[in-house]
Amino acid sequence: MTEEILKRRTFAIVSHPDAGKTTITEKFLWYGKVIREAGHVRAKSNKKFTTSDWMKIEQQRGISVSSSVLSFPYQGCQINLVDTPGHQDFSEDTYRALTAVDSALILIDAAKGVEPQTIKLMAVCALRKTPVTVFMNKLDRDALDPVALMDEVERILGLKCSPMTLPIGSGKMFQGVYSFIDDSVHFFNPEADETEIRKVDGIDDPRMDEWFDAKYLKEFRDQAELVRGAMEPFDHAKYLKGDLSPVYFGSAINNFGVSQLLDSFVAIAPSPMPREAEQRRVEATEPSFTGFVFKIQANTDPKHRDRIAFVRVCSGKFVRGAKVIHCRTGRQVRLAAPSTFMAQDKTVIDEAYAGDIIGIHDPGLYNISDTLSESENLKFVGIPDFAPEHFSRVYLEDPLRSKQLSQGLKQLSEEGATQLFAPINSPIPVLGVVGVLQFDVIKFRLEEEYNARCRLESAPVHTARWLQGDTLAVAEFKTQNSHDMATDKGGNLVYLCPNEYRMGLMEKNFPKITFAKFHTESP
Ligand code: G4P
Repeated sequence: MTEEILKRRTFAIVSHPDAGKTTITEKFLWYGKVIREAGHVRAKSNKKFTTSDWMKIEQQRGISVSSSVLSFPYQGCQINLVDTPGHQDFSEDTYRALTAVDSALILIDAAKGVEPQTIKLMAVCALRKTPVTVFMNKLDRDALDPVALMDEVERILGLKCSPMTLPIGSGKMFQGVYSFIDDSVHFFNPEADETEIRKVDGIDDPRMDEWFDAKYLKEFRDQAELVRGAMEPFDHAKYLKGDLSPVYFGSAINNFGVSQLLDSFVAIAPSPMPREAEQRRVEATEPSFTGFVFKIQANTDPKHRDRIAFVRVCSGKFVRGAKVIHCRTGRQVRLAAPSTFMAQDKTVIDEAYAGDIIGIHDPGLYNISDTLSESENLKFVGIPDFAPEHFSRVYLEDPLRSKQLSQGLKQLSEEGATQLFAPINSPIPVLGVVGVLQFDVIKFRLEEEYNARCRLESAPVHTARWLQGDTLAVAEFKTQNSHDMATDKGGNLVYLCPNEYRMGLMEKNFPKITFAKFHTESP
């Protein structure tokens, strides 16, 4: 069993839309021999839909709303790639997916540098000290200076960079990369099927003067000198602690630098890491099965309102049909038909190991963050709720359907499709989301699945903050701001702040209160 666990590599790709995540995922799947052609499987309005785009709303909009998991063997390892929605409005799903992985790959468009979406998502990785690998993509286009790019990653994302490769030229003059891993040069030739690789004697090897354009070679050598002086060489222990990130350069669409990335990723990425539970730290290689729910996906069949709960296996081995404890309720549940996902195929599996992600049928029992355990009552430290950025009040159009609306809102919030706030002074619920498109999904689903026609109206809320700290100060704050106070699904007190100015003022006036931007259900 230990051998099975140690060969798992569970990771997610994080990027700003359009940086090339879909393209590189396809190449990975191609290397994993999962798809025969590294062509386009992606959704485009009038092309074939991506395998994971099964929700009606996704099809209407031609975007991918839900995360799915892609598993494939590669070089003796079992890769579990937790896919994340491409559209930034569904980044809340990505936040949660990042809590289920052991490492992350950040993709950056080398012509654009670090973009806003990546900054947000990186904050989640930083929170958990997730080891991060960086791939600078699209070198076949005119790119920013590689040292400036890494400098941006260090400054803006707070990741210390260790270049594993460095490009020679970019755009029309992209000639290849130099690999510091084994002192070799990889020639960029978009026409060739395979990348030509030649070993060299360091960056000053005179043969390189014959192979490369003098101007770009000089630039490369200067940059190589610079990074050698200013940046740390790769250190595996530091990487595993999230303190140092290896950086690669390439072009996903040309399949250049991708196999190199995948090979070294498999070599350095962590096998399933231990997880903190309230009671104790749980090691992946412990024999007893444990796991937690990080995502709930509804509506695979709208007629049955069934849901799939995605479980990250944290330790041991899971066997089909086994009885486990649902720790929040103390109930014994039988996991009858767990499935794994390979592109469009959902396969029922007989066993799964720590690091794997399984989908289990959810009769409405599971909440995000729930712990499952074979033998012991455990509670894994929860998945944080992140402060939403858009807020709406929900008005029911047909007063006779109020029960359905409450039930729908409750279930959609349990599933993580929205955050639900109950204002303490008003019966009208407030929904909070990270991306506005989530509102469309919620309205659509309330109507389709719960038959509760409703109207969403933008609420005058700038941000939501969870209040922590001195009890008396919190009580005073609550009295003074009762019209802006609400409780979340767990009954925690939340300040729905109307504007930025007021936020600053409150932080100044109530120094004993922490206005938290994310909230983890206390274990
Ligand atoms: P995403 O999932 O991160 O949103 O990015 P995606 O892979 O869809 O890539 C976004 C666009 O960037 C696509 O072009 C894709 O072909 C292109 N791209 C990806 N990698 C590279 C690369 O290494 N070099 C260059 N030059 N382009 C790259 P598109 O025009 O939006 O789509 P399509 O018409 O190619 O399908």
